[in-house]
Amino acid sequence: MEEGITRIGVSLPKNLLDEFDRIISTRGYSSRSEAIRDAIRTYITEYRWLESEKGEVVGVLVVLYDHHVKGVSDLLIDLQHDFHEIITSSTHIHLNEDQCLEMILVKGKMERIKVLVDKISAARGVMNVKLISAVKKV
Ligand code: NI
Repeated sequence: MEEGITRIGVSLPKNLLDEFDRIISTRGYSSRSEAIRDAIRTYITEYRWLESEKGEVVGVLVVLYDHHVKGVSDLLIDLQHDFHEIITSSTHIHLNEDQCLEMILVKGKMERIKVLVDKISAARGVMNVKLISAVKKV
């Protein structure tokens, strides 16, 4: 094995891997490993950006989740009440029979928004959370 390379084993749901394989073949990746390396780099870059942002931010949190997972809808509502001082409004879209997309407009201190992002990301049933920062006040 190449020096500095660590081999890891990962357990994934079949539908997640099937979808990943479909996308990477469309995008022309020659190997799964290379695509996973890229995905991890993207994840690290996004999280580093989130860690480095400071001060007042206006943005939108896009949350994709499976509403069949017990408790997730209630948890998302509870969290929005807990963080009401940084939430301007939210829009819920029933994407299909399983998935919901919630767009939460946020305005406030990045430090506080980050706490909300982490709590939503950690919730079971939540598949993806993205923060798009629209305006950064200086
Ligand atoms: Ni829905």
